[in-house]
Amino acid sequence: MGRYLEKEFRARRHEVLSFRRQELDICDRGAGLKVLEEFRPEVVVNAAAFCNFDSCERDEGKSRRINLEAPLWWSEVCAERGVRLVLFSSDYIFDGIFDGKRVRPYREEDEAKPLSVYGRHKAELEVRAREVASNLIFRPSWIFGVGGKTFMSLLPRLLFELKRLEVASGKLGSCLHAGDGARAVVELVERGASGVWNLAHPGETSWEGFAAECRGELARRGFALVCQEMEFVPYEFLLRSPSGKRPAYSVLDVGKIQGVLKEPLVDWKEGLRNFLDCWLKANPEYADRF
Ligand SMILES: NC(=O)c1ccc[n+]([C@@H]2O[C@H](COP(=O)([O-])OP(=O)(O)OC[C@H]3O[C@@H](n4cnc5c(N)ncnc54)[C@H](OP(=O)(O)O)[C@@H]3O)[C@@H](O)[C@H]2O)c1
Repeated sequence: MGRYLEKEFRARRHEVLSFRRQELDICDRGAGLKVLEEFRPEVVVNAAAFCNFDSCERDEGKSRRINLEAPLWWSEVCAERGVRLVLFSSDYIFDGIFDGKRVRPYREEDEAKPLSVYGRHKAELEVRAREVASNLIFRPSWIFGVGGKTFMSLLPRLLFELKRLEVASGKLGSCLHAGDGARAVVELVERGASGVWNLAHPGETSWEGFAAECRGELARRGFALVCQEMEFVPYEFLLRSPSGKRPAYSVLDVGKIQGVLKEPLVDWKEGLRNFLDCWLKANPEYADRF
């Protein structure tokens, strides 16, 4: 997401100073203060996080430092200087259980009930970051994009390379192409928005639904894929974690953001097509595999 945001801010002619992890550790307060003092930004965007679900379960201290304490420190120092801060939460703050009531997509004001270390730290971050009125907090879900490390980001390559693919199935959620998400984020920053915003394409999907659609779209474009077989394995089995759980349902209600965007977010299947366009451009070695 960070890379897409950098590109989108630049495309809209904002002056951007961006840092990879090796250039600025968000936990390094001295380095952070130096950047704030030297560059005097109007807006700080923190897209850095410790996202690997199982690693967060294994190393709660590291997750706390990167996913909670560091962003809260940035929130404090930015507020002191009148700098607006953009932060990212997650759909994993929810448990997917609606107390026997009809299941419906999660809204911004719904109460967090996390089932994992990562989810707990994101949930606490949201609550505490909301205390600063100018903070802009996005709650994305299942991000995919060129250079990403999630299953969805890696999927085109897997379909080109592997004969057989196991896909974790049985989770319903929302998803987001980082390129489409970045456009929405920059628009809201430009408009001076604050508060919490769900950020995803409209429409619900599952990892197996996404994988099938991705394979179908590449086949429709005429590509010869190596992958002949996709096996759907229940996610509780394939991604079993001894401690944390992923929510079985984390579809986000995107009515709030769709109601204000000049160009509302497209349906997730179109987001996937946008991703494939970018992915094929970034990976030209696959572009002639017909
Ligand atoms: N990916 C999803 O499906 C998803 C879903 C919901 C919410 N989110 C949230 O959305 C935001 C963007 O996610 P993303 O998918 O773009 O994540 P990502 O691809 O994992 O990128 C996170 C980046 O943060 C860097 N980083 C980790 N620790 C750091 C530190 N201490 N200082 C500086 N940089 C550090 C990582 O560097 P290394 O690669 O070197 O570790 C990585 O480049 C995150 O807040 C994430 O929690 C993501």
